[in-house]
Amino acid sequence: MYTPDTIGTPLAADSTRVMIFGSGELGKEVVIAFQRLGVEVHAVDRYEHAPAQQVAHFSYTIDMTDAEAVRELVAYVRPDYIVPEIEALATDILGEIEQAGVTVIPTARATQLTMDREGIRRLANEQLGLPTSAYRFASNFDQYVEAIAALGFPCVVKPLMSSSGKGQSVLRGPDDVAAAWDYAQTGGHTVQAPGAGSKKVIVERYVTFDYEITLLTVRSIDPVTGEDATWFCEPIGHKQHEGDYVESWQPARMSQVALENARSVAARITNALGGRGVFGVELFVAGDDVYFSEVSPRPHDTGMVTMASQRFSEFELHARAILGLPIDVTLTSPGASAVIYGGCESAAVRFGGLSQALAVPETDVRLFGKPNAHMRRRMGVALSTAPDVAQARERARSAAAAITVHACKEH
Ligand SMILES: Nc1ncnc2c1ncn2[C@@H]1O[C@H](COP(=O)(O)OP(=O)(O)OP(=O)(O)O)[C@@H](O)[C@H]1O
Ligand SMILES: [Mg+2]
Repeated sequence: MYTPDTIGTPLAADSTRVMIFGSGELGKEVVIAFQRLGVEVHAVDRYEHAPAQQVAHFSYTIDMTDAEAVRELVAYVRPDYIVPEIEALATDILGEIEQAGVTVIPTARATQLTMDREGIRRLANEQLGLPTSAYRFASNFDQYVEAIAALGFPCVVKPLMSSSGKGQSVLRGPDDVAAAWDYAQTGGHTVQAPGAGSKKVIVERYVTFDYEITLLTVRSIDPVTGEDATWFCEPIGHKQHEGDYVESWQPARMSQVALENARSVAARITNALGGRGVFGVELFVAGDDVYFSEVSPRPHDTGMVTMASQRFSEFELHARAILGLPIDVTLTSPGASAVIYGGCESAAVRFGGLSQALAVPETDVRLFGKPNAHMRRRMGVALSTAPDVAQARERARSAAAAITVHACKEH
């Protein structure tokens, strides 16, 4: 992997150039982290004025699932690094781009494996032997019914390619079978072309876990040995609602044995994926047992808490790791994040309640600058620290609740 021991000047011929695919709120923070290191940033999304595009040196709007469009844009920008911030990307073309000498973060193979639940699940369970929920894949309704019969109720069905809980259902009994299949087929959003084959799904046995965590795992170069090394942030606890996280906190309290198991699982999966950067390893914990759920080869939404709780946020760590720089995962205070939702359907909303929110002690707010609001769209996040996690959670929740989002007429 190419490692610069120098960084060029942005906008000059020798700039160090990073191209980010996916310009949401996580990408925006990654862009800001690169900007601070004097790296030239090019931000791509499928719509204009996406959050990260607003803070990048250059921005482009293309269909990122179109391999030809991605290839053309990469040839035009000629980046040193490609940083995928989303799953819905033409990852098949990234291998070819990597072969041509561009560093894909963490690797082209990792982005391909993790965008597809089958790829990552087979790697984790069948190749590495990591504990996961029991699972079956099904390409049609008959196989799906067989899978449910083999796994029993309750179980969970998910489309192979989806995120934020889209197309995903928990099946409690036989009455849920047909509706869950239909929902997985439409993925919640994209409607299939008539006549096309069924979309493949994964059926997982429901894991009755005590709690779930994200273990942010960082792969960079150890400045002492010059070799690749792995760092673990303190575990992050989170609460999910309808497939989306609503609150997260760090550190999540867990037994020493469970923490060691979690680190071991995270080390093995990230080592198998390879490359450099931050990984969000999602784990279920029951007693001292740890189950691998999935992994993002990039910063994780629940990790936004690190903007308050760590010396360097997951976004700053991602930028450092991509450049092969030293990593510092120090937790500076217990912290929490609480999501601010759109709560309405509107373009160009106005936010109120900021003075009330920011009057909460040790609290900050990020408003992402998204051009449109939807009921369940994440528009911002409240970030708090406190002497303990319980108080940090209370602070973040009350700050998020103080923010009001108003639909307004377009100017
Ligand atoms: N087999 C399972 N047993 C119990 N709970 C599960 C199982 N699979 C998923 N869940 C619950 O649903 C949540 C979302 O699942 P998962 O992470 O697979 O979906 P996703 O669409 O990729 O979500 P995201 O993109 O937000 O991470 C999990 O965090 C967990 O709370
Ligand atoms: Mg998940």
